[in-house]
Amino acid sequence: MPAAALVTGASSGIGLAIATMLAEEGHALTLVARRPEKLEAARAELEAAGAEVIAVPANLADEAAVVASVQAHRAQWGRLDVLVNNAGVGIGQPIGQLTAKHFDLQFDTNVRAAFLYYREALDLLKAAAAEGGTARVVNTSSITALAPQPWLSAYSASKAAVRAMTVSMNRELAGDGIHSTALCPGFVETPMTQFAQEGIPAEEMIRPQDIAEAVRMLLRLSRHCIVPEIPFIRPGEDAL
Ligand SMILES: NC(=O)c1ccc[n+]([C@@H]2O[C@H](COP(=O)([O-])OP(=O)(O)OC[C@H]3O[C@@H](n4cnc5c(N)ncnc54)[C@H](OP(=O)(O)O)[C@@H]3O)[C@@H](O)[C@H]2O)c1
Repeated sequence: MPAAALVTGASSGIGLAIATMLAEEGHALTLVARRPEKLEAARAELEAAGAEVIAVPANLADEAAVVASVQAHRAQWGRLDVLVNNAGVGIGQPIGQLTAKHFDLQFDTNVRAAFLYYREALDLLKAAAAEGGTARVVNTSSITALAPQPWLSAYSASKAAVRAMTVSMNRELAGDGIHSTALCPGFVETPMTQFAQEGIPAEEMIRPQDIAEAVRMLLRLSRHCIVPEIPFIRPGEDAL
């Protein structure tokens, strides 16, 4: 059975770049995101490049959908070596206009779903680590976890929660060989940052492939080394 990975938010941007890299590294893949057509396009693109890949449309704000996506992965591949909790949403709002709906959407997608994935995938991750020495979980946090931003306060707090979760998971699960890393990028050129491209030209943003290359490096680390977080900043940026 080949090594297998599950990537959330895999239809676009950072998630698609990480999924593409994981396929190059020989992983069978489960891709998860909401919009079925976009997800199917990503699946077809990866399959055409030679990957073994299934697509599972799911809204990660729905606990049952998270559970079902892990079940689909388990039924198809029977193992999980790399879990990528990447799906996320960011909604800019001054605090005076904050709505509970938008707050909950960001925390349910960015934070709660990642916790649920750890819970649902724990036995598979433990089994992969027992066999190969290490299983890996990659959580897409953000530079806003390290440098919280105005007008993005709920988003920044959600990403700080992802970072804190990653620390807790390493303390709780490293003994089982499950190593977690929080990715903390600044502006990456994806659909999510189109709103910012008047201020920062797209070609000056971090590439999604830069993030994927950092995850490729993690795959090569020995079981004696954990990288708890990786900040990514643009030249001249003083984010920390
Ligand atoms: N771009 C940046 O500058 C940047 C910087 C730091 C961190 N990040 C983080 O990186 C991650 C990926 O973002 P991106 O920049 O690659 O944006 P993107 O291109 O918009 O990708 C977001 C992905 O998440 C999926 N998604 C969103 N809400 C979902 C939900 N409720 N359930 C399931 N899937 C959902 C989207 O597909 P559907 O919409 O079809 O569901 C899409 O596949 C996010 O967590 C984001 O916060 C991005």
